[in-house]
Amino acid sequence: MTAPVERKKLTVPDIQSARGKRRLLMLTSYDYPMGLLADRAGIDIILVGDSVGMTTLGYDSTLPVTMDMMIHHARAVRRAVRYALLIGDMPFMSYQTTIGDAVFNAGRFLKEAECEAVKLEGGEEMCDKVHAMVQCGIPVMGHLGLTPQSMNRLGGFKMQGRDCSSAQRIIDDAKALEEAGAFSILLEAIPDRVARIITQRAGIPIIGIGAGPWVDGQLLIIHDLVGFFDRFQPRFSKKYCDLNKIILEALTSFKSEVEAGAFPAPEHCFTIKDEELAKIT
Ligand code: KIV
Repeated sequence: MTAPVERKKLTVPDIQSARGKRRLLMLTSYDYPMGLLADRAGIDIILVGDSVGMTTLGYDSTLPVTMDMMIHHARAVRRAVRYALLIGDMPFMSYQTTIGDAVFNAGRFLKEAECEAVKLEGGEEMCDKVHAMVQCGIPVMGHLGLTPQSMNRLGGFKMQGRDCSSAQRIIDDAKALEEAGAFSILLEAIPDRVARIITQRAGIPIIGIGAGPWVDGQLLIIHDLVGFFDRFQPRFSKKYCDLNKIILEALTSFKSEVEAGAFPAPEHCFTIKDEELAKIT
């Protein structure tokens, strides 16, 4: 009998060396149960995204999310994840201000939540921060294209890189991030052929969410994938099941069974012996 092969804990170098050999898988998670399932499913990279603000905390954007909120969620996911690479997402204003703030807050993800890397939004203008983090031993994933923390400048959650100059800017930003030491780059909501150019020119893994098939890996927001967020469905996401429907059906069944006296049934109840009951005054 052959012993089962022990699954390997993935590191940043493992993710980098997987580029070109197989398609990388990445999902967000914000809590222990989803982190556990994502890790069990064999996902390579789990991102504790600041999308937690919208998917889980009910905000209209990611802007209100703070470092303390992110650490709280990242620690819960950490307790669940054994094999995937765990990345903490730097929230709005935790890194844009100064290099010192950026390094300090990135370090919090590693010290307080035991994440193995961080992600931040922005290109060339963030390279001094990326470089400083990497110098301190903090691996950084860049994020280009639709960067939700810039929604006020972009005029909403809109696809990017539609015209030549905007596409060129994203391509140049990807190169700048790689040169600053980013170990990987995430491209969100950009044309597939622009993502292909970036992937062909890059020496690091390029992950896409709404960036087409010619990248090194795919990311989805876990709440979109399982149908657990119904305020809107981005065009690029795919709903693989309808968790909202399943949960609502269960809650409605509970309501009708309680109302009808069908729950709790005898098997859900605790008993006391007749003689003990008889002694009660
Ligand atoms: O916060 C997040 O989940 C993200 C993805 C949308 C890329 O940054």
